[in-house]
Amino acid sequence: MSNIRERAVASAPAKAILFGEHFVVYGKPAIAVALNRRVRATSTLNDRGEIRVRSMLGYSSIPLASIHGPHSYEHDPHRHIIFSVQSVMNALNEHVGVDILLESDFPYGMGLGASAATSIATIASVSSLLGGMSRDQVFRLSLEAERLVHRNPSGIDSAICTYGGLVLFKDGRIERLDGRGYLHDLRFMIVNSGIMKDTGSMVMKVKARGESSREEFSSLTEMSEALTMQALYAMKCNDVARIGKLLTLNHLLLRRLGVSNDTLDAIVRDAIASGAYGAKLTGAGGGGCVISLIDGSRSKVLFDALSRYETFISGIEEEGVMLYSVDDV
Ligand code: MEV
Repeated sequence: MSNIRERAVASAPAKAILFGEHFVVYGKPAIAVALNRRVRATSTLNDRGEIRVRSMLGYSSIPLASIHGPHSYEHDPHRHIIFSVQSVMNALNEHVGVDILLESDFPYGMGLGASAATSIATIASVSSLLGGMSRDQVFRLSLEAERLVHRNPSGIDSAICTYGGLVLFKDGRIERLDGRGYLHDLRFMIVNSGIMKDTGSMVMKVKARGESSREEFSSLTEMSEALTMQALYAMKCNDVARIGKLLTLNHLLLRRLGVSNDTLDAIVRDAIASGAYGAKLTGAGGGGCVISLIDGSRSKVLFDALSRYETFISGIEEEGVMLYSVDDV
């Protein structure tokens, strides 16, 4: 018990997928970016032998003694957080009551990686409370929590929210692109459609589509891979206009896949009509957010055109998961 601290704070960034979502689940490449919005997890020891979680999803409290695997809390809105805490306790062999407070400045269920970011911030903060863990271990435990929520995640959300920056992800391999000659001063506008989506069911929908229209699915898969590789090249050449065009093509491809809707299509159209280089839905689709690549000097025009939606601007957030010294917060 000697390594145990009273309180620990960690945060993890939001993310957006720029290229290759859905097909990344089938081992194809994808590019994702960390955004300048974060979720912060504060963990404090309690002497009640309970895991207690408070977030914008509500309040949960579960005695450690009543936990016999994830089915003990399968209907809890914080089940991936409770699962994350349990995995840390099992890994570090310390089982103590802990309170977790989650404060986020980006919304849940909108394709910005809230489930991965909350589990990563929780794992980092609880592990720091109980003795510490490496960043790679945080990533691995968060993948397990993501499996609980999304059934068959590719791992890209956990990767980008743990390591930050601009990342190429393929088959579980993570390559940081920023700082390696790839463009890093991109500016994005994120537009929230206000329509909640469920990643797990969108992934299942795409799977069913792949099974019922094999040929079309395989040509969409090839196109997604080609777009992602062209985007990688455009980033290397600092060709912002080309990246924008490829983003819009990626949106059309996702629309063909059946994961867009009228609201997302209208946001993409409005963003481009107002001067964005390109725009697309980001993440699982069915709702959530649109990401557009913009020229900072045109942001006022874009804000005005999309003023009925919640929007924010972000560059590439370099920092992934971060631990704070308790004296700093
Ligand atoms: C979700 O952010 C991205 C998807 O490709 C699912 C996944 O990669 O696990 C839709």
